[in-house]
Amino acid sequence: MDKKAKVFAIMNEKGGVGKTTTATNMAYLLGKQNKKVLLIDFDGQANSTILMGNENPNNIGITISTILNNIIDNNYILPPEDYLIKTKGINLIPANANLFYLESKLSTVTFREYMLKKFIDSVREDYDYIIIDCMPQIGVPLINVMVASDRLIIPTQSEILSVKGLTELIRHYIGIKAVNQELKISGILMTMDKKNTKTSKEVKKLLDSNFKENVNIFKTVIPYSIKVSEANMYKKIICEYLPKNTVSVFYEKFLKEVLKNEQ
Ligand SMILES: Nc1ncnc2c1ncn2[C@@H]1O[C@H](COP(=O)(O)OP(=O)(O)O)[C@@H](O)[C@H]1O
Ligand SMILES: [Mg+2]
Repeated sequence: MDKKAKVFAIMNEKGGVGKTTTATNMAYLLGKQNKKVLLIDFDGQANSTILMGNENPNNIGITISTILNNIIDNNYILPPEDYLIKTKGINLIPANANLFYLESKLSTVTFREYMLKKFIDSVREDYDYIIIDCMPQIGVPLINVMVASDRLIIPTQSEILSVKGLTELIRHYIGIKAVNQELKISGILMTMDKKNTKTSKEVKKLLDSNFKENVNIFKTVIPYSIKVSEANMYKKIICEYLPKNTVSVFYEKFLKEVLKNEQ
């Protein structure tokens, strides 16, 4: 493996498709394998920040917005001791509602697509993996993520309308490839799947017929379990709360598949 971290962005322009669940569990499982992991919460809703043990994100002084605003305003990169939260075996850069203002802030700068890349490149040497839990809205902030990342993982809820929304995201990806040749789609991940239902089968078919030729579709499918929300209620992620639950087991399988594809 390179000395530099591989940067995985968990992205979909839709909300509620399993981005945060995938990002947090993936980061947590990599941490368990003694990898050096940085999880960046890149959604103003701050769900990753909360699930990694911070009850009130809006009370956190320094977040990913602070880091990016410093780069935009002063061309200054804050040192890690100012912002890192060490939690559950990984390093976290939290987010809070301030991130909702990033888009308008970025509109005032030149090279606005490169602000996150500037930051990430400065910490790459410190980690094995950097995982970015993305906001759902496509705009300049998400373009920043695509420019800064090596891989996109696209979770999609096992539901017909979710699959139809993917075309737009993949169109953006093709545009970004021109400026970031490193960027690849690691794959599309079906989440919250209710096995053997008509929907589940139709979604699989639709994914295969629309994307399979150009994009990897992970063989691992994450099942639906009510235990995920239960874990979240206790501010925990499923792999931490119930490591033997089927969802946890399938996230482990999924991670193996991701890493295998990297070899
Ligand atoms: N495999 C799953 N089984 C059951 N519920 C899930 C599963 N994955 C996610 N959820 C629930 O679905 C909701 C949306 O998931 P989340 O990961 O927050 O999506 P996103 O980050 O894309 O908005 C959350 O309430 C979460 O607890
Ligand atoms: Mg989320």
